[in-house]
Amino acid sequence: MFKILNLITSFLISILTLFNTIELPQDEEIDDNNKIVINEVIDVEEKGTEEINPEEVVVPSTSGNWWEYPSDIVACSRDGNDLLVLVNKKYQLPSTYKPNDLVKASNSGIRRGENYYLRSIIIDDLRDLVDASKSDDIDLSVVSAYRSYATQESTYNYWISYYNNCISCTDKVSARAGHSQHQLGTTLDFSSNEIGDSLGSQFGNTEASRWLVENAYLYGFVIGYPQGYESTTGYSYESWHYRYIGKSNALEQKSSGMILETYLRSKN
Ligand code: DAL
Ligand code: ZN
Repeated sequence: MFKILNLITSFLISILTLFNTIELPQDEEIDDNNKIVINEVIDVEEKGTEEINPEEVVVPSTSGNWWEYPSDIVACSRDGNDLLVLVNKKYQLPSTYKPNDLVKASNSGIRRGENYYLRSIIIDDLRDLVDASKSDDIDLSVVSAYRSYATQESTYNYWISYYNNCISCTDKVSARAGHSQHQLGTTLDFSSNEIGDSLGSQFGNTEASRWLVENAYLYGFVIGYPQGYESTTGYSYESWHYRYIGKSNALEQKSSGMILETYLRSKN
């Protein structure tokens, strides 16, 4: 009798052990009545729509590297003529977009402005900026301004070739066609006599750069890619690249404590 009881106990233990080692498919589990039930698989996006504020969503990147383009590139939500249009790696201008009021940058009195074009609506404020800088002994020049879609394509390809086809190196410093603020005609690259009117990182150490950091917003101009914000802007620091958004917007942006990119995201 004792042996029979032992046999039955061993048999029951074997059955229980076997049962515990069965792996259930991922979306199945055992309910309180020991029946296998299928869990409803809820799409994460669908589940989150009421909980996620779109303004808090970080622009997704293909693999999370700050210089990469997202997989979901879309058209700019504002018109290209709008001073507050957001143009970045996600939001692209149409290839056909070209401002219809381009004039020579030299109309503002800035040095080297004969070869570059800007929208006429920014000339008066740029002239005021240049005049104010001169009275502080700063000698600014312009080394790039409006660039068409086609010119931006050539510019990007120039950097691709310069970096021996290194795409990640290029995407850190140059926008692909349709993604550049230069296509707006409201963006310019500054230089100064201190560095022989050259374009590049050396500008960050000039008095002219320090003067612009302090004063440019008073005339409606805002630095596009500030130092330390690469993961937000998608570009390396560019001390020379300023975009005009108008005096009242620039004042609002400065007071908000947001960088240009974040400020424009809040407006688009
Ligand atoms: N260098 C800036 C990112 C441009 O190409 O527009
Ligand atoms: Zn630039």
